[in-house]
Amino acid sequence: MTIQVENLAKSFGPVPVLSAVTETFEDGSISVLLGASGCGKTTMLRCIAGLERPTTGRIAINGRTVFSHRPPLFVPVERRNVAMVFQSYAIWPHMTVFQNVSLPLRAAGIDRRTIEQKVNEALALVGLSGMARRSATQLSGGQQQRVALARCIVSSSPVILMDEPLSNLDANLRIAMRAEIRGLQRRLAHTVLFVTHDQEEAMFIADTIYLLHEGKVLQKGPPKEIYESPKTRYAAEFLGRANIISKFERITAAGANTIRLGTLTVSAPSPPEEGALLCVRPEKWRATAPDLTDVLQGQIVETRYAGDRIEFTADTPVGRIVVIEISREERRVGDRVGLTLDACDIRWVV
Ligand SMILES: Nc1ncnc2c1ncn2[C@@H]1O[C@H](COP(=O)(O)OP(=O)(O)OP(=O)(O)O)[C@@H](O)[C@H]1O
Ligand SMILES: [Mg+2]
Repeated sequence: MTIQVENLAKSFGPVPVLSAVTETFEDGSISVLLGASGCGKTTMLRCIAGLERPTTGRIAINGRTVFSHRPPLFVPVERRNVAMVFQSYAIWPHMTVFQNVSLPLRAAGIDRRTIEQKVNEALALVGLSGMARRSATQLSGGQQQRVALARCIVSSSPVILMDEPLSNLDANLRIAMRAEIRGLQRRLAHTVLFVTHDQEEAMFIADTIYLLHEGKVLQKGPPKEIYESPKTRYAAEFLGRANIISKFERITAAGANTIRLGTLTVSAPSPPEEGALLCVRPEKWRATAPDLTDVLQGQIVETRYAGDRIEFTADTPVGRIVVIEISREERRVGDRVGLTLDACDIRWVV
């Protein structure tokens, strides 16, 4: 079951929200749409589900066209065979938890015993065992979200669309549910399109991340690839943290390319284009003694203790640099440090 969108565009009045997006979301994998608030993630999901009519383009699910602008075709939501979890819970307030979760199974005419078993399994999975008889209105936001998740889990639909399904859960449950969704998808080989604006969640859950910006896919790839090799400053700063440096000197001599950052020199590949900036992830720096010759000299202006790591910001001749260290070294404001890095940790972004 692949989901294909071709030249998909959607405007609300004069405002374009999606601009000619062409992508194939692969069969049996988790594709994550990641992007800032308002970039068009929910709109894309609603277009695929059949809840929104795109302005132009084509959508196909498993090779079957479900929307096309020309010739005009629009398959309604109930005939697209997709399961959904919405950003707002969309569970039925007049039904119990059990009735809500069993809805897709009852609609499919499955026998009562199987329904009970599947619903109870799904409720256990989302941590709502024993709540089956409760009315949906007696649940907290996070519990309602889990009911919606359980309903998605029991549906036999091979395509699942999830719009920020974990946004109302507390931190621990959120992390546990990420792993559950991942495990379940691996077992059942669903094709999942998962929307989030949380970069850490995206990296954990995705086979492929699609970074959306202003209605377009800015960069796509496996989490590691996007994190390690962002192509743009926007991607570098949206996925994790990045030191973007413009005050560097390039020295090109006899086939060798060298970059000078203050008193630190590193060999580095040539920039892909004029005006490209240097990008270094905070954990790539190594802090050493300040008075060595071939280091970037800095003075610490801020430190943050984060339990499993130490972060500090240093003023250097090329600007403020953020460094993340896993070490027992004590860092204090005012301390001088020397910073070095490996050539292979330098990236160019535009
Ligand atoms: N029915 C609508 N009418 C007019 N504008 C809309 C409508 N739905 C969405 N928009 C606009 O389209 C843009 C994209 O909205 P969308 O809900 O897709 O964003 P999103 O990426 O899901 O954001 P968030 O992370 O906040 O949920 C926003 O600027 C929004 O205001
Ligand atoms: Mg949204």
